[in-house]
Amino acid sequence: MSVLVISPGRDPEVWAKELRNQHPGLNVFVYPEEHDKEEVEFAVSWKHPRGIYKNYPNLKVIASMGAGVDHITSDPDIPEHIKITRVIDQDLSTDMSAFVLGLILDQMRNLSLHHSSKKWEPKKYKRIRDVKVGILGMGVLGSAVAKTLQLNGFEVSGWANSAREHEEIKIYNGAAQMEDLLKESSFLVNLLPLTPQTENILNKDLFQKLPKGAYVINVARGEHLNEHDLLEMIDSGHLSGASLDVFRKVPLPEEHPFWAHPKIQITPHIASVTNPGSVVPQIIKNYEHMTEDEELMNVVERQKGY
Ligand code: GLV
Repeated sequence: MSVLVISPGRDPEVWAKELRNQHPGLNVFVYPEEHDKEEVEFAVSWKHPRGIYKNYPNLKVIASMGAGVDHITSDPDIPEHIKITRVIDQDLSTDMSAFVLGLILDQMRNLSLHHSSKKWEPKKYKRIRDVKVGILGMGVLGSAVAKTLQLNGFEVSGWANSAREHEEIKIYNGAAQMEDLLKESSFLVNLLPLTPQTENILNKDLFQKLPKGAYVINVARGEHLNEHDLLEMIDSGHLSGASLDVFRKVPLPEEHPFWAHPKIQITPHIASVTNPGSVVPQIIKNYEHMTEDEELMNVVERQKGY
């Protein structure tokens, strides 16, 4: 019985080392080294080559290295019986919350703007009471961000696709209530999972429902955003700008218009990065649950895609 680590683009050796350290005796293969496919029952995965998992006849579980699982669920060749798990980790939540809080404060207080202007020209700034934050996606990360913002004095609401309640945060539910959230959000933060239903959700139609001058933050997936619509809505003056951490194509090509745009702030997918040392214990626990035929933690509903 073996574990396969497969993560082109993220150093698989770091994960293999953590797995071996934290579970001595565990047999770990690192893709693409030569290995017996029949032996593999559990995979730890990030952006695997499409179609590869159908060659593993005894595979039972694919564990995502991150919070998102779209890189797994978008592969149509993963047999139905295979379970997919995601990571829920305090570091991921705290890092995401700090990042979004930082971006919002930077915009309200014009910090980057003053830095780049290199001029002694104080600009009018917004106070916390002047803004309202809307969060699309009230899963683990969306809820953590909402709570952090609220603790810092922000008025925050969330939107979730399926009915959800929260003791302290107002949550709008379902397509019918999306507009209610949008019309009051001077900052819109996207933390939705990427599914066929949410792809391109950040488009002109949605942006038009935001108040004039709204600012968009995308820390979920590049495929949520219609890039052309964003540029159009910023250039028309309807949106005041955007901060983007995720893109359809990475690295973002040098010639991409986002780089040169004065109202678009770009970061290289660093909002919240999985720390292998912190999440390997839950992955090992799930491996053990699998071997003992016990229920797995953080299993994704394959039908829903999150
Ligand atoms: C990062 O994008 C993740 O899904 O963890």
